[in-house]
Amino acid sequence: MKFFVDTADTAEIKSLAASGLLDGVTTNPSLIAKSGRRILDVIAEICATVPGPVSAEVAATDYDGMLAEARVLRRIAKNVTVKVPLTPDGLRACHHLTQDGAMVNVTLCFSAAQALLAAKSGATFISPFVGRLDDVGQDGMVLIADILQIYRNYGFKTEVLVASVRHPIHVITAAKLGAHVATLPPAVLRSLFNHPLTDKGLAAFLADWAKTGQQIA
Ligand code: E4P
Repeated sequence: MKFFVDTADTAEIKSLAASGLLDGVTTNPSLIAKSGRRILDVIAEICATVPGPVSAEVAATDYDGMLAEARVLRRIAKNVTVKVPLTPDGLRACHHLTQDGAMVNVTLCFSAAQALLAAKSGATFISPFVGRLDDVGQDGMVLIADILQIYRNYGFKTEVLVASVRHPIHVITAAKLGAHVATLPPAVLRSLFNHPLTDKGLAAFLADWAKTGQQIA
């Protein structure tokens, strides 16, 4: 399973990239706004840090506008993945861009029907938002299972990128289902390390080791 990080905070990205755990990055207009920086600068810095796919979202909502913005975004670096919304214009742009050799991430997916359309449009990634579905009383992970089943039935190459991840159980359930990618907020990615028995066990080992008076290096 690939791990992307869902942030435009370049300091966080650099720190996580050093761990070797990052396969890519996703951003969205809200995350760019939170960074307080120009999108072109942020995406360029992220692309220079992480060689995998880096999603940069268009702000236009019409087909021609999306293509114009995609041209600018794609010029930043080869690993830019153009992110488009799951709308008729967004999927038309997705079809055009993937035919032209671009990677495209179709975002704001909330139903299996939408995911089917995105795959037929040639999307590289489909981003179902599990946390936002949970927020309105629907089980986001059921949507992931449905999409994976549909894609497997027809051999679609589109990768399921689990988005709007809120906690480790989302990550583990996505991995058990065989989702291709999860994009994690930095705090969720870091939380995957945690277990109280690891902390307790390490403290006990270190206490016993101190009693030996030895040093390894
Ligand atoms: C995905 O690409 C989105 O940027 C993101 O996962 C949205 O998550 P949120 O629901 O926490 O805003």
